[in-house]
Amino acid sequence: MKAEAQVYEKINTVICRDAVEASEQVAREIIDLIRKRSEESKPVVLGLATGSTPLLLYKRLIQAHRDEGLSFKNVITFNLDEYYGLEREHPESYWKFMHDQLFDHIDIPAENINLPDGRVPRDEVFAYCQNYEKQIEEAGGLDIQILGIGRTGHIGFNEPGSSEDSLTRMVTLDHLTRKDAARDFQGENAVPRNAITMGIGTILKAEKIYLMAWGQAKAEIISKAVEAEPTGVLPASFLQLHKNATFYIDRAAASELTRIKRPWLVGPCDWERVLIRKAVIWLARERDKPVLKLRDADYSEFGLSELLTDYGPAYDLNIAIFNDLQRSITGWPGGKPDADDTYRPERALPKQKRSLVLSPEPLIAEMGMGATIRRLVSQGHEVTLAHLCSGNLAVSDRDALYAAEFASSVIAEEGDSNGGTGSRIPVLKELREKSPYEDASPTVRAFKGLLRKNEATTTGMALKLESKQIRHLDLPFYEKGRYRRFKPEEDDVAILVELLREIQPHQIYMTGHQSDPSSLDAVSFGLFKQAVDEVKADDWWQDCRVWLYSPSDSLMPCHETEMSVPVSPDELQEKVMAIYNYHTQRSQVPGIENQEAWDVARSLGRKAAEEIDALGLAEYEALERFQHWKEQA
Ligand code: F6R
Repeated sequence: MKAEAQVYEKINTVICRDAVEASEQVAREIIDLIRKRSEESKPVVLGLATGSTPLLLYKRLIQAHRDEGLSFKNVITFNLDEYYGLEREHPESYWKFMHDQLFDHIDIPAENINLPDGRVPRDEVFAYCQNYEKQIEEAGGLDIQILGIGRTGHIGFNEPGSSEDSLTRMVTLDHLTRKDAARDFQGENAVPRNAITMGIGTILKAEKIYLMAWGQAKAEIISKAVEAEPTGVLPASFLQLHKNATFYIDRAAASELTRIKRPWLVGPCDWERVLIRKAVIWLARERDKPVLKLRDADYSEFGLSELLTDYGPAYDLNIAIFNDLQRSITGWPGGKPDADDTYRPERALPKQKRSLVLSPEPLIAEMGMGATIRRLVSQGHEVTLAHLCSGNLAVSDRDALYAAEFASSVIAEEGDSNGGTGSRIPVLKELREKSPYEDASPTVRAFKGLLRKNEATTTGMALKLESKQIRHLDLPFYEKGRYRRFKPEEDDVAILVELLREIQPHQIYMTGHQSDPSSLDAVSFGLFKQAVDEVKADDWWQDCRVWLYSPSDSLMPCHETEMSVPVSPDELQEKVMAIYNYHTQRSQVPGIENQEAWDVARSLGRKAAEEIDALGLAEYEALERFQHWKEQA
């Protein structure tokens, strides 16, 4: 029977601590089934997915093979989908992905592996797809289907508009899906327009379905798929029609489910501080009233009578939350010297702090906290802005070519005016000849990295940092890797540890704590945590506070915010102009469509201010939000 808290949920949903725990649970189901069938000398038929979501699952299956003697000899696999038009050996083909991430590391017989073939001639695709369906049937049907979910709500490549009866077929990819894949392909132009995918009907025929999802970016689509009515506009919602589908999700991806977002609507609550804040802020929004005008009746009519009984009357609750919010707003992110800091987010001493701002790649910190960086500098703190990676993967060939042509003509011009013949820069030839489908060579990547590092330095200087305060750490995991396949190692941690020990900061600013675990932000945050583990016995660490800032594509929720730094109209303009220096990052904010980074930063900052204003606090132009990292000890 369904727990009371899950009344709104139409699909069995398991919320796990993190992606590792969730992947372990799904892996267990698969491992147990493989063992059971192997004892009965029967095959197991698995439907598999690609993308970043199942990476930990595959890692766990490989481990079970290597360390626990699990054999995959009795396993037959059918993959969900494949890009149309890609060679198998293309670095982004799903064929390559599956071999790299799973098949090459287990003992599955090659003839048991089935993936749609993206090279089938157009006029044979229909028959090919029919045959794929037939092969699944002949194998006995799918025992378990593994799924991820796209931001459009797609499963496989069944984009919005797909019918619940659809079968394996050729589809056109949604614009948003292509945009999300642009980073992997190093440019949207290089992302194929079509794919072959199993249909929703094919998926629904599986005996059991496990859908996994990680990170804040999936939260909204998960809540709709689980709680809204099934509709073709959101293909994953059709999974509600299956009797044996389970969603395994992490806490961040669960954050929009009613039982997490508004737990008071589904049962008794443990009213800790953040939850009270969340409830009162929500109520004020629902009633469209400032906090101080909420009445007892508002609380009871909106399902908050339990809170009212425990902490009311409304007047007390309102005042407590109003003060709490008010105190989180400070123009002194480094602490206000000589002021009583009992209720201030940051301590007063030492007066001049060493503040270390860590940015997974250039642009992230500048978007999340550009105005705060500027403020810390002007208030006399010793600020270092360190970019963990160069961000070269996010520079398009077109921008690199433009820069190389320009650099080359400057050199030629100088050469001519000096009486020489001028010279061309070596990377130019390579860029001129490079096709969009080809991977960037180390020279091209280094050149693209140089572009972003220069943009970062110019941006930092616009925020009043001196160039020596801006560091480019070039962590090896990034320079060697590609999106979703980063393999951070010991030497990455060592570089961070060295930086921390050199600076011995009083404050560190970082982000990535709620991102998809395979994203650059989350990988960077993971490395940061490892570095912290190494330094946490150091003396200086005992006096260091870590602040988390908002990711570049969304706002930290108001109720989680513990420090809000006001941004005046001039400061906002200055921040926007600073970010403007990222010429190669036009329309490149991952997850945001057709908006420039500076527009996104401006509108998120304004939105934070509007939210505070609507709650009845002061009216600011914009705010930047921060949260104290609790796992620090
Ligand atoms: C992959 C697939 C897609 C992905 C989805 C999520 O074979 O069919 O539906 O599962 O796009 O992708 P990630 O896991 O990369 O977020």
